[in-house]
Amino acid sequence: MPDSKDAALSDLLTEDRRFAPPAAFAADARVNDAAIYDRAGADPAAFWANEAARVPWMTPWETVTRGQFPHVTWFDGGKLNLAHACLDAQIEKGRANKAAIIWEGEDGEVRTVTYRQLRRDVCRLANGLKSLGVERGDRVAIYMPMTIEAVATMLACARIGAIHSVVFGGFSAESLAGRIVDASAKVLVTADGGWRRGHVVALKDEADRALLHTPSVEKVVVLQRARDPFPCKMTPGRDVWYHDLVSVQPDQCPPEAMGAEDVLFILYTSGTTGKPKGIVHTTGGYAVGTAATTAMVFDLTDDDVFWCTADIGWVTGHSYVVYGPLQNGATVMLYEGAPDFPRRDRFWEIIARHHVTIFYTAPTAIRAFMKWGHELPELHDLSSLRLIGSVGEPINPEAWIWYHRHIGAERCPIVDTWWQTETGHIMISGLPGVTAMKPGYAGPPMPAIDACIVDDDGNEVARGSGTLAIRTPWPGMLRTIWGDDERFKATYFSRWGGRFYFPGDGAKRDEHGNLMILGRIDDVLNVAGHRIGTMEVESALVDHPAVAEAAVIGRAHELKGQAIVAFVTLKDGATAGTPGIGKTRAETCETLRQHVAAKIGALARPEEVYLTADLPKTRSGKIMRRLLRDIAEGRAVGDTTTLADPAVMGRLKDLYADTDG
Ligand code: WTA
Repeated sequence: MPDSKDAALSDLLTEDRRFAPPAAFAADARVNDAAIYDRAGADPAAFWANEAARVPWMTPWETVTRGQFPHVTWFDGGKLNLAHACLDAQIEKGRANKAAIIWEGEDGEVRTVTYRQLRRDVCRLANGLKSLGVERGDRVAIYMPMTIEAVATMLACARIGAIHSVVFGGFSAESLAGRIVDASAKVLVTADGGWRRGHVVALKDEADRALLHTPSVEKVVVLQRARDPFPCKMTPGRDVWYHDLVSVQPDQCPPEAMGAEDVLFILYTSGTTGKPKGIVHTTGGYAVGTAATTAMVFDLTDDDVFWCTADIGWVTGHSYVVYGPLQNGATVMLYEGAPDFPRRDRFWEIIARHHVTIFYTAPTAIRAFMKWGHELPELHDLSSLRLIGSVGEPINPEAWIWYHRHIGAERCPIVDTWWQTETGHIMISGLPGVTAMKPGYAGPPMPAIDACIVDDDGNEVARGSGTLAIRTPWPGMLRTIWGDDERFKATYFSRWGGRFYFPGDGAKRDEHGNLMILGRIDDVLNVAGHRIGTMEVESALVDHPAVAEAAVIGRAHELKGQAIVAFVTLKDGATAGTPGIGKTRAETCETLRQHVAAKIGALARPEEVYLTADLPKTRSGKIMRRLLRDIAEGRAVGDTTTLADPAVMGRLKDLYADTDG
């Protein structure tokens, strides 16, 4: 957003402008010697063996790593417990009375728990879960607002060796039910509701709708968060209030000694089919990977207040709200609500109020802040910040520079971190005390991470663009897809003879070895940092009784990175105006948008829906999404010679130009 301060923006955006670590930062940084790359590259196993010393093993591990893609193990023979590593080990290091979490509710309520208090809360809940019959290896689904109790629930599961499956609170009953059924969860932990922009999101109502279809669930634990006057129906014999459950439990619960390869959690993410994948992470490698990357990338010290704004429903919340920072003994900032409530400066107010030192957020948020104007952060004292980060989508150089200037005060290094639900922890990112950061580039691969770019034949490309690939295993990598190892192998390792892990992103490398992530190259969209499969949205649309066929694409969007656009053909006879569809085209489109939101969750609601008599198809019946993208982005339409009926394109263009939709 142009302003006087941004007058020299174009100078800063020249292709090779790099930002060296500020001298003051580099001097004290935990990693400030580039030799780490050579050391790690020369002997990755020795590097990770060394990093594993960060973890308080209950039984020492025997081998660093074994096996090759797709099936590998890390730190086999070792036993540990993540709740013990995040709590007991910190208390033993003298952090008993240090704030583990500073929580701010959307209504302004603030609560702080120390490491000792958090351990007590976790132990009580762990005992409570046991009293409900949860045993080691059982699955527990978590569908909760951003609260201390949500973090405590994850840690309570880890403490007793139960496998947690957190489902983002924005997902619908149907999405929740699908995830519960896939994992056969025995217990669901939820809340009456959560606060968002001053309103209650009725989580328990949504959960109750899901629970009609989840025979595996025996008990439901309900946190009272929305409270009076919010009503919440409890089913006798099945539902128990969180506070009633924990109030009668002892303060101590010995942590289970988990094998390094025992499953810690399942987290569902979108893929190229309609069915989400249950990504499986195990204990030892994930512990080492998250502990090490948090220390290296975020340069955590005992004085830091670390704020990662991600919801615990996403992997970023797992690795950098919970497991990474707590294993490092940090003070974690946790905020319940929306960035624009009650005003658009809420985040800056929080940073100033709690002296946040490290701030980690998504490009979509940064672009919204940019739009809202630099005057808002200027109202607050952000001088506590010393490092800022970005994750989840490509950050455009303009947003990078704005972040650097208006939030980082040209003093804080920026880490642009690339990784995925599947990778468990950060894979590509500059190190803030070492790397000269380049706007738009995530940076070099992390030490001991072997990332490269390959062409269509699987040959490595030294410079220029291609497909991102990872050559060798890393500690936090997914081990399988829950209940579907074949899909695991096919999705990530079937290309190029299984030589590489295939993340599904395009990338480009510059002469310094920095990687720019160009976005997904499969049928997965990245909308405001959230992964959504085009097939999932298409299945939701086709599920509507009036819809015959749907094609969903992502088009570039100024704020969200990508926006969902759907082209829909209605069934014969079901024209707009048929009862249940809507009297006008606009009404029908709105009905279909809401239908998707109800089926999947508001995050998947299409930005635009176009009703069309036909879709562009090849003679073999394949929908040519590339052409639909051309139309949606207002480009000249590409090669249409393979279309069965080239005239379709003309009709579609007219339709798109028609503002009535
Ligand atoms: C994208 C989120 C560019 C990418 C941690 C990846 C990024 C997907 C970046 C994973 C980044 C993540 N720059 N793109 N720094 N970080 N992505 O599983 O397309 O929710 O494949 O994990 O987000 O999304 P996921």
